[in-house]
Amino acid sequence: MTQFHVPTDPATFVPDRFAGQVMLVTGGGGGMGLACATRAAREGAAVVLADINEEAATAAAAEISGAGGQALGIGADITSRDDCTRMVESVVEAYGGLDVAINNAGVMDGGRDGQPAPLHLANDTYIRGTIEINVLGTMYACAAELSRMVEQQRGGAIVNVGSHTALTGSVGTPAYVASKHAISGLTRAIAMDYAPHGVRCNSVNMCATDTPMLERAMEFVRSRHTEDKPDTPRATMKSSALIGRVSTVWEQAAVILFVASRDASYMTGALVASDGGWTAY
Ligand SMILES: NC(=O)c1ccc[n+]([C@@H]2O[C@H](COP(=O)([O-])OP(=O)(O)OC[C@H]3O[C@@H](n4cnc5c(N)ncnc54)[C@H](O)[C@@H]3O)[C@@H](O)[C@H]2O)c1
Repeated sequence: MTQFHVPTDPATFVPDRFAGQVMLVTGGGGGMGLACATRAAREGAAVVLADINEEAATAAAAEISGAGGQALGIGADITSRDDCTRMVESVVEAYGGLDVAINNAGVMDGGRDGQPAPLHLANDTYIRGTIEINVLGTMYACAAELSRMVEQQRGGAIVNVGSHTALTGSVGTPAYVASKHAISGLTRAIAMDYAPHGVRCNSVNMCATDTPMLERAMEFVRSRHTEDKPDTPRATMKSSALIGRVSTVWEQAAVILFVASRDASYMTGALVASDGGWTAY
């Protein structure tokens, strides 16, 4: 079946679609964030990659600049409101404004030592870390971005990276599911409050995508789903998306950037499923 579902060519881009625009990508040091920033730079955006891993963000920006794009990498922990304020200040200082924000930074395990598990078995690193980074962090990032967009009075676009777990349940990872459902609510609330300011806000919700996070998730799934650890109701898990493979970062970047672009000028408050049909059944 997979021969019918050829993924987006990593080299595809729409020339000048973001020409003259400034884009911030959180979690830009790797995975999906880096793919978004790389393609957006090819499409003419000046991009700022912000990541808690400053080294990764700087290296990623250098790679984009080396290929002829305009990019800056900075360190920022989105769970700090001050960091989020400084992050947006750095964007403005470097490129004079902010037009598009992709809030992509997130974790599935709460960070170091976090262990996704059914709730009564879940440790606090997993619960608190996941909520702090995915919910509070995204909220603080949005707040800083919106302050600037309102002040600029030239509108803007925010894309929050959710997950298929923003739209449906998933076994063994309750804090992640709750955190991503919160992203859906936040996206709709921002869309309502900021439409009068010309700011659109949407979310893109993917299923398994080929990034370092997926590798960690698969390790976790393998460690739990053994015959002697039948604590997760495996029978309730779907085994794959309708498109019988995981997605690539380029497929997700294509959807995220479409939603961020003026091609999607009439979209706001939308929770876009880019999940290979996972939530269709
Ligand atoms: N990969 C998947 O299968 C998948 C599926 C659904 C949704 N997602 C979502 O996509 C987004 C990107 O995930 P990815 O797969 O590229 O993951 P990833 O782990 O490869 O990248 C996430 C990036 O976020 C950064 N980050 C983590 N905490 C941060 C913080 N506090 N402040 C700033 N940066 C921080 C990391 O350093 C990393 O560079 C996440 O929000 C994730 O929940 C991923």
